[in-house]
Formats: sequence, structure tokens, C-alpha cells
Amino acid sequence: DTIVWTAVAEIRELLQIDRCQFFWCRNQDFSLEETLGGNSLLSLEKRSQFELGHECCEWSSVAARETNHLRAIELLGARILEQNLLKLDDIATTHQLDANSKVVLLEIGVRSLLAITVQTRSGDLGIVMCQHESSDRPWKISEVELLNAVADQIAIAIDQAKLYEESRRTAALATAQAEQLQQALQNLQQTQAQLVQTEKLSALGHLLAGVAHEINNPVSFIYGNLTFANEYARDLLELVKLYQEHYPDPVEPIQDYRENIDLEFLMQDLPQMLSSMKVGADRIREIVLSLRTFSRSDRGKMQQVDLHEGIESTLVILQNQLKPKSHRPAIEVVKEYGELPSVECYAGQLNQVFMNILSNAIDALEESLLERPLSVVGSSDRHSDYKGKSPIDKTPTIWIRTQVSRPHYISIAIADNGPGMPEAIQTQLFDPFFTTKPVGKGTGLGLSISYQIIVEKHKGQLWCKSQPGQGTEFLIEIPVSQQISRSF
Ligand SMILES: Nc1ncnc2c1ncn2[C@@H]1O[C@H](COP(=O)(O)OP(=O)(O)OP(=O)(O)O)[C@@H](O)[C@H]1O
Ligand SMILES: [Mg+2]
Repeated sequence: DTIVWTAVAEIRELLQIDRCQFFWCRNQDFSLEETLGGNSLLSLEKRSQFELGHECCEWSSVAARETNHLRAIELLGARILEQNLLKLDDIATTHQLDANSKVVLLEIGVRSLLAITVQTRSGDLGIVMCQHESSDRPWKISEVELLNAVADQIAIAIDQAKLYEESRRTAALATAQAEQLQQALQNLQQTQAQLVQTEKLSALGHLLAGVAHEINNPVSFIYGNLTFANEYARDLLELVKLYQEHYPDPVEPIQDYRENIDLEFLMQDLPQMLSSMKVGADRIREIVLSLRTFSRSDRGKMQQVDLHEGIESTLVILQNQLKPKSHRPAIEVVKEYGELPSVECYAGQLNQVFMNILSNAIDALEESLLERPLSVVGSSDRHSDYKGKSPIDKTPTIWIRTQVSRPHYISIAIADNGPGMPEAIQTQLFDPFFTTKPVGKGTGLGLSISYQIIVEKHKGQLWCKSQPGQGTEFLIEIPVSQQISRSF
């Protein structure tokens, strides 16, 4: 469009003429109906249709003859295409035109005319038409040659512009396709990584459930028999006491043996030993129960569960990480449990969410504690040492709050007083593979999987509130029943 427009303006300027036009010629099929000997015959004929591309002319002539700008081409177009060039110096006197054509042309004010075809390699056909209206205008050979050269240049320029346009379109298409591919590849990688991670967690769950099951039997055995062992020991000790009362002076071998085994100490220690064994066995049973609760297999079905049990079992598994370490005091867990109804959910998956969020909180607290001076390490009561100091020296704490947040919905908030996060990190938190942890420590999948579990699998919501230096809070909200989530 720009090429044609520039060309007509330049030609008019160069040749000092009143009007220069460019027409596109398009071949069109016309069906003709002929009657031959009483039979009607249908035949197709190709005709050229002319369409004005651009025009450049004197303002006065435009105003005067705007509606006439197609007359000359309609009259002479076919002939120009046939001859490639039409040169009319003075229309009034020329022998190249019939009388009728002359009248029409003079009527619309054309006195001289020079026209030439433009043929591009890509098959486009056009005509450059120069008209002079104010006087007759003999065309010089040099002017005809110039117009010829310009017509060739126009054809080349149009071809190049088309090629350029084409290559741009192809390039844009290729870029779009490459982007699509890139996106598809990324999606694929993410899905694969998430599948692997989910698979790993579920395999770990199975493993835990298996271990818990294996430990459960011998522990029940020990636990069950401890009560009897206690009774038997008490009876035996009673019997020994009775012997001592009634036979205060036993024979020498008995006396030697009694001294050897330090009977007094044994009689005092055995009941204590048995009761601490019971405490230990109790603890093992608790851990086994937590392992089983944590790795509860959903088998693709939702269950009604007490979410507090899930949170508690997760805390048992994380117990070791919460304990005091050489470089930091214990992480305190403050539980503010509300009255929760049982919730219909994939319990095993929700436990994974608790695990992810709680582990992140522990990592964050660890990180903030690692950055501080280690002056307190080695103090006898590290825990109290951290209390009441500047914000960075406060006790590392995790708060777990549960409540019915609104009718039919429960919420679980897990907050920490760790370093918090700037806005830039918060916006990417739930993106797969987003991690600020060193390679090998974080995969960046914890929160993205958690988001999927809460939002997609449970029709709930997962938010994060955080400010640098102010800690972080994750808020989970899920419907009590999946039926409800559909009707609300
Ligand atoms: N409680 C928090 N305090 C501060 N930053 C957090 C907290 N929780 C998450 N983050 C930030 O969010 C990032 C993403 O967490 P996410 O759990 O998705 O991945 P990750 O913990 O880095 O790795 P992964 O969980 O796969 O082992 C973390 O790297 C961390 O920068
Ligand atoms: Mg994580």
C-alpha cells in the first residue's frame, strides 16, 4: 500500500502531470448465457476487474471529477493490458482511439494519457496511469522509459514487500509455535516432577504404614505383657520379703547370693524400671499410631476424619526437628485448636499439606536462627535465654489455629515467627519449582502440590500472609463436606 501510494505521488511530481493513478487488475470469471439454435449455452469468460489502489492529483480535478476516476480505466484497461503500454499525446487528434472513446475521455477532461502495466513475479497485475487534463501533453521517449523503469521497480518492491510480509508471518508463526512447544514442555516437566514427587510421597506413606504395622505387633506384645510382668514382679518381691521376715538367717549360699545381686537395690529398682519400660512402650505405641494416621491410605476415596489427629500425627513425625539443637533452642508449638466437626477429605493428602507447611516453617525458623550470633549456645537454659530479647531473639514458635471459619467451612492457620517473605517471593510461592533453598535441600514442589491438594482436590483455598521480619502465616480453608462445596 505504501509502495503504491509513494509511487503515484512521485510519478506525478516527476512528470509534472495532473493525475497519476494505480489500479489493481483482478481476473474474474463471468458466466455468459448464449442462445444458439434454440439451445441456451453457458460459457465462462475471464474479464479484468479494475480497482483503484491509489491516486494522486490536483485538488481541483479531484473535486470536479471524483466520480469519474474509473471511467478512463474501464474504457482503456483491457487494451492497456493487451499492449502493456498506451501512449496518447493528444486525445482530441489521436488515431489510436475510436470516436466514442475520445468523446468519453474528453468529457471527463482527459487530454493526454500514458499508461503502463505492472506485472509482479507473484502474479499480481496493475496499471500505472498518467493523465494530463489542463492541456495536451506530448510524452517524451525519456519519460516513457522512466515510467517503464518505475513500473519494474514497483513490481519488484511489491514482490519484496509480499515476501517480507510472508517471512514475518512465518517467523511470527514459528515463534508462536516455539512458545507453545516451550509451554507444553514446561507443563510436561512440571506434571512429571509433581507425579514423581506425589508418587514418592505415596511410596513413603506405604513404607511408613508397613513399618508401623511391623512394629505394632511386637510392641503390643511387650505392652500387653508388661502389666503381667509388673504383677509377677510385685508377687515375687512380696514373696522374697516374706522369706526375709520368716527366715531372717538363711543358709550361707543364699546369704552370699543376696549380697552378690544387691537384693536391696534390686527390690527398689525393679518396679521403677518396669514403670519406665511401660512409659517407653506407651510412647512407641503413640508413634506407631501417628505413623499409621499420617500415612493413612485414602485409596482414592474421601473419608470422614478428625483433622486434629492428622496435625498431631504430623507433629509426632516432625518431633525430632522441633527439639533443641546445638545452634538453637527448641521450636515451640502453640496449639489453639477449636471445636472441629469431622471433615470429609483425603486424609493422607491433607497430612502431606500439613507436613509441607510445617516443614517450611521449621526451615524458615532454622534459617533465621542460623543468621544470628551463636552467643547463647552453650547456656544451660537456652530456651529462656531467647525470651524477651529483640524480635530476632524471640523463641522460635509455630502457632496452629483451627476453627470453623464460616458455616460448613473449617480453617487451619499455621504461622511462624520466622524471617517472613518479601512480596516478590510471595507472588511465586505456589509456582512449581520455585524455591529459595539450596540445591539438594528444596525442590520447590511442596507448596505447589499443597495448593493442588487444597484447591483442586478439596475445593478449598490456600493463602499466605507474610511480611519481612514479621513471620509468615498460611491459611487453609476447606469445606466440611464436598457436597457443600458444590452447592455454595
Ligand atoms: N514459612 C515460610 N517462611 C518463609 N519462607 C517460606 C515459608 N514457606 C515457604 N517459604 C518460601 O517458599 C519457597 C517455596 O516453598 P516450597 O515448599 O514450595 O518449596 P521448598 O520448601 O523450597 O522445597 P520443597 O518443599 O520441595 O522441599 C521456599 O523455598 C521459601 O523461600
Ligand atoms: Mg517446602
